[in-house]
Amino acid sequence: MKVLLIGSGGREHALAWKIAQSPLLDELYAAPGNPGIADHATLVALDVEDHAAVIAFAKEKAINFVVVGPEAPLVAGLADGLRAAGIATFGPSKAAAQLEGSKGFTKDLCARYDIPTGAYQRFKTAEPAKDYVRQQGAPIVIKADGLAAGKGVTVAMTETEALAAIDDCFDGAFGAAGAEVVVEAFLDGEEASFFCLSDGKTALALATAQDHKRVGDGDTGPNTGGMGAYSPAPVMTSAMVERTMKEIIEPTISGMAKDGNPFSGVFFAGLMITAKGPELIEYNVRFGDPECQVLMMRLKSDLLPILYATATGTLDKVEAEWRDDAALTVVLASKGYPGAYDKNTPIAHIPEASEEAKVFHAGTALKDGGLVATGGRVLNVTALGKTVTEAQARAYALADKVEWENGFCRRDIGWQAVAREKV
Ligand code: AMP
Ligand code: GLY
Repeated sequence: MKVLLIGSGGREHALAWKIAQSPLLDELYAAPGNPGIADHATLVALDVEDHAAVIAFAKEKAINFVVVGPEAPLVAGLADGLRAAGIATFGPSKAAAQLEGSKGFTKDLCARYDIPTGAYQRFKTAEPAKDYVRQQGAPIVIKADGLAAGKGVTVAMTETEALAAIDDCFDGAFGAAGAEVVVEAFLDGEEASFFCLSDGKTALALATAQDHKRVGDGDTGPNTGGMGAYSPAPVMTSAMVERTMKEIIEPTISGMAKDGNPFSGVFFAGLMITAKGPELIEYNVRFGDPECQVLMMRLKSDLLPILYATATGTLDKVEAEWRDDAALTVVLASKGYPGAYDKNTPIAHIPEASEEAKVFHAGTALKDGGLVATGGRVLNVTALGKTVTEAQARAYALADKVEWENGFCRRDIGWQAVAREKV
């Protein structure tokens, strides 16, 4: 099989690394890719926003299968274009990608099909949104409707904060994403991420993970795209996974199909495990970054036939086998992230990978023959262990061998699971 992978982050490096191990693979291309992905794929300098160029390249190289990593091209309809050109594609249609592209769309779906989630209202102007906040009181959650790179959500502990967040949205802080606002009830509990494939009819549960959104140790400081993750998430017991499938995933699959938007791809469900059970915070329609890195370390099965079955409506014919081990990833980021940071800072050394530990590239590039950091989140040091504690020790031991002066990381990734393991 000839495969084209779209994307350039740590998520795509992990996918490329796994896909490259498949005996079914003949050739792997990645657009635009990164220096880590280049170990497994031929990099192609395509502008992925130019759908016609991506489709033309896929046709020219007789690509059999395209795997789309990030959300932006999915929300923009890249998968529709590829499928219309007769190329099997992993990732939802533009219509189905609204599950991530519009928070209001997802909330309405939940309301229609009785999927547990926080009570909400949608608003197109500030005053009625503020009246609703005053009526509901704090804590309350204010969300820009559209894609805002993880920054469009304010969990307001006071009414004043909530009212300011509404003004921010309508004043354009998130551009077009904030033209509509969702005001949502605050959910109290422990968060977990759940990953599940669907081909539009069948579901295949993958695995669970826990992210660390705040930039600082002890979950302090501003939100980021994610500073580290581990899998599995202990709060997602098998009973909780079963309830999530039955109460959230299955009604989503049947509801989307009924509404004429069958979903094919991966559900990344952000859940709050409340006293009532699992409730949906949000859907993403692609693998998490860095959650994908820990999932790929734990996956024993060949990934390629599983993704291909998802794209071709044969998910009922495949299974996914997982290691019992835990996996943990630590994000090394440029000093200053998620604020301003220097670009093109040199990375002098990346340590060798072993069976149990590996460094995935995210925001890196080659410049004059040397490796440099070009992004906020730059490297993902990922390790396996019998316990989260062991995976954490291995990941930090490897991270400490990375020589990159302008890098930093949180030192406490996995703290909740490590504390649980001590008891
Ligand atoms: P999102 O960008 O939608 O993932 O939201 C960012 C973060 O805001 C989530 O990971 C949660 O920690 C928090 N959050 C979002 N919605 C709620 C809610 N209804 N109740 C409590 N926390 C929330
Ligand atoms: N790590 C969170 C995300 O990928 O959205």
